[in-house]
Amino acid sequence: MSASIFYYTGTGNSLWTARKVADELGDAELFSIAECKYENKTIDSGIVGLVFPVHIWGVPTPVIQFVNTLKGSNPEYVFAIAVDAGQVSNTLVQLKRLMAKNHLNLSAGFEIKMPSNYTPWGGPGPHEEQHKRFELAQEKIFRIAARIKEKAQMPVERGPLWQRILYTLIYYISFSHVPKMDKKFWVDDKCNSCEICRKVCPAANITMREGKPVWNHRCDQCFACLQWCPQEAIQYGKKTPKYGRYHHPEVLLKDMLKLR
Ligand SMILES: Cc1cc2nc3c(=O)[nH]c(=O)nc-3n(C[C@H](O)[C@H](O)[C@H](O)COP(=O)(O)O)c2cc1C
Ligand code: SF4
Ligand code: SF4
Repeated sequence: MSASIFYYTGTGNSLWTARKVADELGDAELFSIAECKYENKTIDSGIVGLVFPVHIWGVPTPVIQFVNTLKGSNPEYVFAIAVDAGQVSNTLVQLKRLMAKNHLNLSAGFEIKMPSNYTPWGGPGPHEEQHKRFELAQEKIFRIAARIKEKAQMPVERGPLWQRILYTLIYYISFSHVPKMDKKFWVDDKCNSCEICRKVCPAANITMREGKPVWNHRCDQCFACLQWCPQEAIQYGKKTPKYGRYHHPEVLLKDMLKLR
């Protein structure tokens, strides 16, 4: 049975995961949530998957908006994969409830642990550790695909109780502030005005003024702009100048620009 996999990504971890799941399922098509989030959708049959990063211990806004457009759909089987850096917290429970409000049943929800793209907290870790995570992710994707093929109904994966209480609180406190969290972005003098940051932003939140990016407070905090700037000229707060940049090694800038 054919599958439609909708993904959202800032630095390619979720795109890579979605591709690998699609390869395993065979008859599957990928769609970018950034491209189609505002269109109303009716999906009546087959398998539907959502693959997206965990942001601030919850579901990112574009994914929420996308799920809300699915009202009226009636897919046979829905699964989700939350791609994170190791703290899924309550994300998949939140998604399951959101889907239920839209009369959709989330049959299974899985966590995939990948390198962190939240550079203000120190970046993705050493290369060996990153590659270890890719290997473990691939192994888990084989297991996930097997469960999807058999249309398994199972509880969604979740973090420990303390994490779900504390971090979910932080998620809801932060949520309305996310669009303006771009106030902490700044550009240093390595910027050569290439405009890649503007083109890669899934929220169309960046405009150029005198050859430099300006953030317009409609940010989704995906970190694509900071991570894909070829000059590493975009900074966030005080600490990022001393850290390297990250994107999944098998996802290229052209993949990101194609899907915007
Ligand atoms: C603003 C922001 C918040 C994040 N919050 C979390 C989090 O709560 N838990 C976690 O494990 N990882 C968190 N991360 C890390 C990403 O979820 C992780 O690196 C993910 O694999 C990125 O996927 P992508 O490359 O598809 O965007 C966060 C990243 C960003 C940019
Ligand atoms: S991607 Fe980097 S170098 Fe290019 S315009 Fe943006 S900040 Fe400047
Ligand atoms: S401004 Fe940067 S972090 Fe915010 S949505 Fe655009 S690319 Fe993502």
